[in-house]
Amino acid sequence: MSAISSQASSIILFGPPGAGKGTQAVRISQTTGKPQISTGDMLREAVRAGTDLGNEAKGYMDRGLLVPDSIIIGLISERLKRSDASGGVLFDGFPRTIAQAEELSSIAEVSMVIMIQVPDEDIVERIVGRRMDPETGDIYHIKFRPAPSEILPRLIQRKDDNEETVRSRLNAYHQQTKPLSDWYHKLSEKTNLRVISVDGRGSIDEVAESINLELEVF
Ligand code: AP5
Repeated sequence: MSAISSQASSIILFGPPGAGKGTQAVRISQTTGKPQISTGDMLREAVRAGTDLGNEAKGYMDRGLLVPDSIIIGLISERLKRSDASGGVLFDGFPRTIAQAEELSSIAEVSMVIMIQVPDEDIVERIVGRRMDPETGDIYHIKFRPAPSEILPRLIQRKDDNEETVRSRLNAYHQQTKPLSDWYHKLSEKTNLRVISVDGRGSIDEVAESINLELEVF
């Protein structure tokens, strides 16, 4: 287990839609012992449960737009109160705006930002070919990570995993989320925050290996 697991501070996994955040988050969580907190998963759960929050978020998610900061910050604040968050967490897909990052700075300590870099031209194929196992939450891909044949009948495709919505999600990423990259780099110049950049174009195992190397030297 890496040295980082003993620290109470959190890690952010940052990248465009389909970069492989969820895929890598499962592994990083196992390596570090930090629970994965995915705002996308939390929102989808609220949509499934039909809560007021889920009903409000659904319209944004279906159109590939970011859900308003106030909703996201409320979700995260509540989640961080749970006891498993006391040793730091792994944020997957949060923060996504500078307002969210500023709010996070006031409620949690972040020691590392892992930026997974994948060019736009690879994103659409990744997203459109993604399939999810609703029983385990495992993420598959029809070409890059085929599921075992016995579970194929139960696999689902996310409602927002279509080409039109992906383009809108990419647009939201470039307009509202990518500026956070500079924001965190600047923050790292005046604090102990470590920002690392990982080439996400390799295979799933290669990307995991690059991240592991960074976690080991931390
Ligand atoms: P969210 O669920 O967070 O979606 P996302 O950021 O668009 O990210 P994805 O889940 O699509 O991709 P990923 O990077 O996790 O990739 P994955 O590992 O699955 O958010 C959904 C929506 O919720 C947003 O659009 C927004 O509306 C809302 N929302 C969520 N958080 C919010 C926030 N903080 N603020 C405001 N709104 C928020 O991999 C993708 C595919 O590629 C898979 O099939 C996988 O098998 C494959 N793959 C992974 N790695 C590789 C590899 N190295 N090579 C080849 N294939 C690979």
